[in-house]
Amino acid sequence: MNILIEENTIKEKIKKIGAQINHDYANKNPVMVGILKGAFVFLADLLRSIEIPLEIDFLAISSYNGKASSGVVKIIQDLAINIEDRDIIVVEDIVDSGRTLNYIIENLKTRHPRSLAICTLLNKKEERMVDIPLTYVGFNIPPVFVVGYGLDYDNQYRNLPYIGVYDGK
Ligand code: IMP
Ligand code: MG
Repeated sequence: MNILIEENTIKEKIKKIGAQINHDYANKNPVMVGILKGAFVFLADLLRSIEIPLEIDFLAISSYNGKASSGVVKIIQDLAINIEDRDIIVVEDIVDSGRTLNYIIENLKTRHPRSLAICTLLNKKEERMVDIPLTYVGFNIPPVFVVGYGLDYDNQYRNLPYIGVYDGK
C-alpha cells in the first residue's frame, strides 16, 4: 500500500480543524453528525481535539459498491437527535462526486437546523459533479481511490492508521 497521508500528518491537521471549531462554535453546543461507516475514525479523533460542549449523532448511509459510485443514496440508520434549531456539523470521510453529501444536506435541511456546516477529512475536487459548500477540509487529494483511517474498499482496510492509495492487491 502506498501511503498518501501519514498518521502524524492527519493528527496535526485534526488539531487545526479542532481549534477552528472551538473558535467558531463556542457557546453553540453543536451536533456533530458522523456519516457511517467511513467517518467514524475521523470523528472519534476530531472530537478529542474539541473542548467546547457538543453532542454527537450518526447517520448511516449506503452509496458505494466497491469502487464505483452507484449514485443511489439510502439512509440505513437515521439520527436519534432532533436537530431543529441546532447548529449541525456534518462530518464526512471524503467528498468525491458530491452526490452523497448533496442528498444528506437536502435531507437534513428539511428538519430545519439553525445552521449546517460540512467538515470533510478528504476532498477529491476534480471528480465533483454537484457543488457542495465545504466549511472545513482536511486535505485536497488527487482522483485516486484511497483506503484506511475509516475508508474502505469492500469494507476492508478501515483499520489502517494512515491514508493509502488502493492498488488493487
Ligand atoms: P460521492 O457521493 O461520490 O461524493 O462519494 C462519497 C462517498 O463515497 C464517501 O462517503 C465514501 O464512502 C465513498 N468514497 C469516495 N471516494 C472514495 C475513496 O477513494 N475511497 C473510499 N471510499 C470512497
Ligand atoms: Mg462514506
